[in-house]
Amino acid sequence: MIFTVAIDGPAAAGKGTISRAVAARFGFAHLDTGALYRAVGVKGGDPVAAARDLTPEDLARDDLRTLAAGQAASKVAVIPEVRQALLDFQRRFARREGGAVLDGRDIGTVICPAAEVKLFVTASPEVRAHRRWLEVGGDAAQVLAEVRERDERDMNRADAPLRPAEDATRLDTSDLSIEEATARAIALVAARLG
Ligand code: DC
Repeated sequence: MIFTVAIDGPAAAGKGTISRAVAARFGFAHLDTGALYRAVGVKGGDPVAAARDLTPEDLARDDLRTLAAGQAASKVAVIPEVRQALLDFQRRFARREGGAVLDGRDIGTVICPAAEVKLFVTASPEVRAHRRWLEVGGDAAQVLAEVRERDERDMNRADAPLRPAEDATRLDTSDLSIEEATARAIALVAARLG
C-alpha cells in the first residue's frame, strides 16, 4: 500500500510528536525532514555539496536538536539548490511501500502534493517557544526570539515557503494536550484509510 501523511507547520508546533504517534499507530515509516536541513546546516562548508552528499552519519549526529542547528537549518533551507538536492529522497520515501509519514514545512505543498492526508499543525509562538524551552533550556526570551526569527524566514523565503496546502486540515495545538492532538491526527488518518 502506498499512503502518505504530510504533516507541516512551524517550529515546535508538535509535528514531531504527532508524526511519530501516527507512524507507530499505523505501522508507517516516518521521516523528520527538518533533520535533513539540520544536518546540512551543521555540517559546514558548501551547503549544496553537503545536501548532495548527506550520509547516515550526518543524520545521526547528536547535536541536531539544538537551537543553533535549527537556525543553521532555516538558513540553508532558503537555498533552492539545497532543497532540490533533498527532493528525490523525500519523494521516494513518501511513496515507499507500506505507508509513510513526513513532517516538515513543504510536504503537502511541494514534496507530496498528492498526499492522502495533509495536516497543518500550528500553535501560538509563545506556546511553541515554551515547549522548545522545556527541551533545550537557556534564556526563555531568547528562545521566543529565535522561534519568531525562524518563522519569519521560513514563511517569507521565495522557494517552498511555509504555508498550509489548500486542502490541508488545520490543527491548532495551543490548547491541546499531546494525547488530544495525536488522537485527532490518528482519527483523520483512520477516516481516510476507511
Ligand atoms: O522542523 P525543524 O525545526 O527541525 O526544521 C528546521 C528548519 O529546516 C526549519 O526552520 C526550516 C527547514 N525545513 C524546511 O525548510 N523544509 C522542511 N521540509 C523541513 C525543515
